[in-house]
Amino acid sequence: MRSHPDNAAYATRDLAVVWHPCTQMKDHEHLPPVPIRRGMGVWLEDFEGRRYLDAISSWWVNLFGHANPRISAAVAGQAARLEHVLLAGFTHEPVIELSEELVALAPQGLTRCFYADNGSSAVEAALKMSFHYWRNVGRSRKCRFVTLTNSYHGETLGALAVGDVPLYRSVYAPLLMDVITVTSPDCFVREP
Ligand SMILES: Cc1ncc(COP(=O)(O)O)c(C=O)c1O
Repeated sequence: MRSHPDNAAYATRDLAVVWHPCTQMKDHEHLPPVPIRRGMGVWLEDFEGRRYLDAISSWWVNLFGHANPRISAAVAGQAARLEHVLLAGFTHEPVIELSEELVALAPQGLTRCFYADNGSSAVEAALKMSFHYWRNVGRSRKCRFVTLTNSYHGETLGALAVGDVPLYRSVYAPLLMDVITVTSPDCFVREP
């Protein structure tokens, strides 16, 4: 079997300092993580020049290919002009433009955008907004959520609470809010 010293060296350095998400780290004693040097379109490439077709179709799907030239140029251009300013008390052109385009696409009545920095945070924000809406209309006792079996919404405590994957959830059950779980209409796993 061909050896891959560069890959192996990166895997060793990684395992000395990194905990990987949703991973039992003991598994990596037998199956090291794959060190990726770069991506191009649908391909990932390791440090030995081996290419992998990126067919990850669940988490963090890359819709437009790796190192998409147009997206990279837009990100670089934006970073050179203004990389960040908080939205509390400030605004900027990209957030206004994006929000205008999203509102134009959204169903009638959905007229504002609120931003979070990842999926879990977005779920947390949605849970809080929903609770806050009912509080604003005088129903502050309305504070339980209905969730679907087999659902996954992220790893933060609120997102975990409204999800239903025992592998991720069970250890943290004492920390999670009480939800009402109903059967998912998902046709993939249900009985015929
Ligand atoms: C359906 C779904 N919701 C929420 C999340 C959480 O997103 P993030 O990992 O950006 O927090 C994920 C992540 O894989 C997801 O698949």
